[in-house]
Amino acid sequence: MTAKRMRSQAWFGGDGKNAIMHRSWMKNQGMAPDAFDGRPVIGICNTWSELTPCNAHLRDLAERVKRGVYEAGGFPVEFPVMSLGESNLRPTAMLYRNLASMDVEESIRGNPIDGVVLLVGCDKTTPSLLMGAASCDLPTIVLSGGPMLNGRVRGKAVGSGTAIWHFSEEVKAGRMSLKDFMDAEAGMARSAGSCMTMGTASTMASMVEALGVALPENAALPAVDARRSVLAQLTGRRIVEMVREDQRLSSILVPVAFRNAIRVNGAIGGSTNAVLHLLAIAGRIGVALTLDDWDALGRDVPTIVDLQPSGRFLMEEFCYAGGLPVVMKALAEAGLLEGDAPSVTGRTVWENVRGAENLDPEVIRSLSAPLTEQGGIAVLRGNLAPDGAVIKPSAARPSLMQHRGRAVVFDTINDYHRRIHDPDLDIDENSVMVLRNCGPRGYPGMAEVGNMGLPPKLLARGITDMVRISDARMSGTAYGTVVLHVAPEAAAGGPLALVREGDMITLDVPARRLTLDVSDAELARRRAEWQSPAPPASGYQGLYIKHVLQADQGADFDFLVGCRGAGIPAQSH
Ligand code: FES
Repeated sequence: MTAKRMRSQAWFGGDGKNAIMHRSWMKNQGMAPDAFDGRPVIGICNTWSELTPCNAHLRDLAERVKRGVYEAGGFPVEFPVMSLGESNLRPTAMLYRNLASMDVEESIRGNPIDGVVLLVGCDKTTPSLLMGAASCDLPTIVLSGGPMLNGRVRGKAVGSGTAIWHFSEEVKAGRMSLKDFMDAEAGMARSAGSCMTMGTASTMASMVEALGVALPENAALPAVDARRSVLAQLTGRRIVEMVREDQRLSSILVPVAFRNAIRVNGAIGGSTNAVLHLLAIAGRIGVALTLDDWDALGRDVPTIVDLQPSGRFLMEEFCYAGGLPVVMKALAEAGLLEGDAPSVTGRTVWENVRGAENLDPEVIRSLSAPLTEQGGIAVLRGNLAPDGAVIKPSAARPSLMQHRGRAVVFDTINDYHRRIHDPDLDIDENSVMVLRNCGPRGYPGMAEVGNMGLPPKLLARGITDMVRISDARMSGTAYGTVVLHVAPEAAAGGPLALVREGDMITLDVPARRLTLDVSDAELARRRAEWQSPAPPASGYQGLYIKHVLQADQGADFDFLVGCRGAGIPAQSH
């Protein structure tokens, strides 16, 4: 059998001027001639950055991937792409997800690469790299950096993100001193890795494992666990085989993979951010996924992983209990997961997980005694969200799932910050807090401000949850009865823009309804008076505002949707 000619040979093969130039400059790094002899060239797409602390260890992991690539007879080349650090980037890392995906797509297509390993970790680094790679469709495998070790403060385990939201409210309510809050700072981030709650980073690491584009156990192994280094090495070996087998991303990211991922998201109590990211990834690879699929597929999946923010434990315990393969096995045995889905191992998902063993049934519960009967994401519709909105029932208060209350409206996040501390603010625990102009176009970038903190005067009375509605997102580490991603957003003229102080709003999660109790005639009158917010900004923000799709479509850019393949570009000289 003749070996297939590698894509990279369009650069490195032959004795023409261009081939000599391509090889010659590469050789300034001390590479042996046989690196260019037609073996698979593996791009290691790295989001290492000291400004993305969750990914700061990824250069070490890249070395392990290289070891595996060499062992399998490939030639690894590491390259950086834009790295999105959730904890530092302003106004929000989400503003740059699509930009980073463009960097990834063009870097892959424009270079002599036959297969790609995506090194990811912090929230947006996973979807941005997978979106870019999906638009190229080379053989691709994802490796996450893994979660931090458990946070520990005054002898107690604390979860990154979740603890910040909780402690901050405790300080506002006068139950925790500022000194104690500041002392907790270092104890919450004790090792390399991403947030160790089931926040967006851990959710997305689980999603890539559930989609079949990462090796089993990718989600839960701690960043500093030696077994993650082994996983990196195995990832390097496997991508070389995948190139030889021509196992492209489009052969794995098929409809069944997305169906499985949505169900797994329900079982792990995963982040609402996964909705946006999976819709965007599906759009790139050409799978017709819709917002309603999230409800239809995830509605009856109980949350069985007892992790913060929905439950008690952290990723370290999840790993020790057996990690995601245990969850996937349980779902498959209950008929909630399609085990014949393909994966990067070359085996089916069922073959990957059938040997998994639950080592701690307190952390990974049984489907008959779950943490929440109905996990997943509920999709709400009604005259306040004609194109949909989402809520995570497992993080919400059951008594508020059916609620009617008076709207207290914050026009912008600055308006919220200005007024929320006012002791005369006309609000009580039955009110519905509405925040607008925080969507994709409005913020811009759809910041994670939807879980706006409660008014201090109510916190001091022991109130810990209220219904909150916005066109924003919420951190995956956050919790509460929070309706998010209202579409169309206020800045695009959605009905959220028309809500007035004192209007009555009805939330009915069991019926999947979100209703503004105002007549159509009155809404039409208000719409006639509505003025669109300030004109778009210039530069990248201007491009973003002009081209970003609404939340129900994954907030990708309209011109980036779809797979453009990895055809060989024209010569540069
Ligand atoms: Fe990076 Fe949470 S801030 S994963």
